[in-house]
Amino acid sequence: MERLRFATWAEHYSQKTNRSLAGSRLHVDDGALEDGERLIAQDWGMVVSSAPQDAGDADAQAVIDATIPVEDVADARELSGAQAVDFAQRHMPVLDALMRDARERVDFTGISIAVCLILEPKTAVLLRQLKAAGAKVGAYCGAEANDERVAEQLRSEGIAVAFDPNWTPAQAHQGALDLLDELKPNIIIDDGASFARLAAMERPELMADIIGVAEETTSGVRAFQAMQDAGALSFPVIAVNDSMLKTGFDNAHGTGETCVTTMQQILGADAFRGARVTVVGYGPVGRGFARRVRALGADVTICDTDPVAALQAVFDGFRALDIDQAIRTADMVVSATGVRHTITLQHMRAMRPQAVLSVIGGIANEIALDDVPGFHAENKHEIRNLAVPDGPTIRLISEGDGVNYTVGGGNPIEIMDLSFAVQASAVTHLLEHRGTLPDGLQRLGRDVDRHIADIALRVRGYQASHAVTDNGYDWTLTRFAEDEAADGKE
Ligand SMILES: NC(=O)c1ccc[n+]([C@@H]2O[C@H](COP(=O)([O-])OP(=O)(O)OC[C@H]3O[C@@H](n4cnc5c(N)ncnc54)[C@H](O)[C@@H]3O)[C@@H](O)[C@H]2O)c1
Repeated sequence: MERLRFATWAEHYSQKTNRSLAGSRLHVDDGALEDGERLIAQDWGMVVSSAPQDAGDADAQAVIDATIPVEDVADARELSGAQAVDFAQRHMPVLDALMRDARERVDFTGISIAVCLILEPKTAVLLRQLKAAGAKVGAYCGAEANDERVAEQLRSEGIAVAFDPNWTPAQAHQGALDLLDELKPNIIIDDGASFARLAAMERPELMADIIGVAEETTSGVRAFQAMQDAGALSFPVIAVNDSMLKTGFDNAHGTGETCVTTMQQILGADAFRGARVTVVGYGPVGRGFARRVRALGADVTICDTDPVAALQAVFDGFRALDIDQAIRTADMVVSATGVRHTITLQHMRAMRPQAVLSVIGGIANEIALDDVPGFHAENKHEIRNLAVPDGPTIRLISEGDGVNYTVGGGNPIEIMDLSFAVQASAVTHLLEHRGTLPDGLQRLGRDVDRHIADIALRVRGYQASHAVTDNGYDWTLTRFAEDEAADGKE
């Protein structure tokens, strides 16, 4: 077997399978990795093993067998809708375990659930699971980041899907309203708070039947927080995003991983080697990306407006600079904030000619393209030249949209298994506490994270260490009491 170069292998494997490298076991033959590549794989969150049958491996779900040449790995993008959803479902055992348990405890029959998420095979698995539990389920999806074969498959399984790639913005708006009218949802699973806000503003009469909302992402939680601050949030919202098993894995691992491999697909596997990369925003998403491109040889600078985040970057071994300084020398600028106008027209003017500009966060106009006269986003461009008025011509990736879900396959399957396990827990929580939850934002308890993590460890052939049940802790016993007791013995 040829010796494995991690950068090339990771790009191809990730694009072909959409499986998560982070949290998986990389099975390689002894000596198959080039020098230093083992460290890169470990930096990407992989446990490298040259023995296929380590303890507990026999049933482990997250073993990636790199002894099979990546050319011979089946390309999931070429599967039919049914095959693609089945493939994802086989690698989502945590959601499956949780939903089997939820069905025992909670009655989903007669509950109507509207799901507004990017429509990919992983999302389809969540929809399937909710429908199998007895709920009436429908999905609304924007035109820019969806998989038509999945939409067709779900429709064939009796799930309403409001999505048409040719919709104008006005038609998409109407499509969302039509789905609301059809479903009259009791629960909304939202991504960016758009669907629930639409319901609250344009179909207020439906809100009487809302049990609650489960919000997937940082920017959505931010929007609900603003709504709450304005006194306008009149229903319970579970901030799924804020659960450790979501943010600590999806944002921190999955997004970094898939944004890197998608940018490699566009720019070449070696695009990061020796490149000066400025990452704007050092939350979990920025951190996951920065760590991975550094492992691939990039020289990374962090810009964050929060001094605490900037200091964290420094303690992680990155330089932290003001954006005005960092942007001038960067070969690539990557926005990871989820904040509108993070990259302004002035910033674009200061960039080097042919420098690459990309978004890995994902809110409208995170790059101020609305200030670039004559700019119109077109879905088909993975990368295009952008002539900045009174500035250089730079290279814009994916029309300024989140690169992993527009060009790539979105966050990896095993990562979404965890995120959707939290979503399923949120839905179960809303049903179990129907009518008793206060209006406003709330989080799931740490016990939910621990329960999901236990299952996720088990399916990987690992486990948490068992706790000593009684360690004799007594708060009245201070070091002084202990010292006196010792004196008495002398
Ligand atoms: N593409 C994906 O698949 C995916 C997945 C998960 C989250 N997201 C999105 O990515 C974005 C980031 O997520 P996160 O969890 O890291 O968010 P976060 O809010 O924890 O971190 C964002 C960081 O950006 C900083 N920041 C804000 N405005 C800035 C500015 N103008 N200049 C410099 N720094 C600035 C903040 O101080 C913060 O440290 C969110 O919009 C989230 O919804 C995308």
